[in-house]
Amino acid sequence: MTAARTKCEICLMVNGETRTVHALPMERLLDVLRNHLGLTGAKEGCGEGECGSCSVLMDGVLVNSCLVPVLQAQGTNITTIEGLAGTQHWSRLQHIFLACGGAQCGICTPGVLMAASHLLNKNPRPTSDEIKEGLSGNLCRCTGYAQILEAVAQAASEGPR
Ligand code: FES
Ligand code: FES
Repeated sequence: MTAARTKCEICLMVNGETRTVHALPMERLLDVLRNHLGLTGAKEGCGEGECGSCSVLMDGVLVNSCLVPVLQAQGTNITTIEGLAGTQHWSRLQHIFLACGGAQCGICTPGVLMAASHLLNKNPRPTSDEIKEGLSGNLCRCTGYAQILEAVAQAASEGPR
């Protein structure tokens, strides 16, 4: 049996907790989060790195977890949408997204919220172009984007709570 087909022990920090999984090295981080760790917030849209629905933070960088072999995540610090609960922009973003209609079928929503939160943490007062750029990796088939961009702009204008 080749190494790629042999499960190995992989240790990573997920939402502040050390987690150990036994997984194939090339298993997608998305599947490990969802199937091994029960963190189903990250969604599979395209499975090809195009839609951003599976976005998580890996050592503070927004990545498409469908493209990350779990071996690459060994020793890293992962934050999923579940780990955003209680962070500074979270309740405001949730509330405003609902109020603006920025979340409809919900498939893109976790990834959009990950990207929006990441953007506001780096840049609390983004311009509309910076919001578009910050969310450029996230596709949405439902909203036409206007409500999503409006929701992030509104969250930025209200500032952190
Ligand atoms: S499911 Fe990962 S980018 Fe679309
Ligand atoms: S709300 Fe359905 S894909 Fe964005």
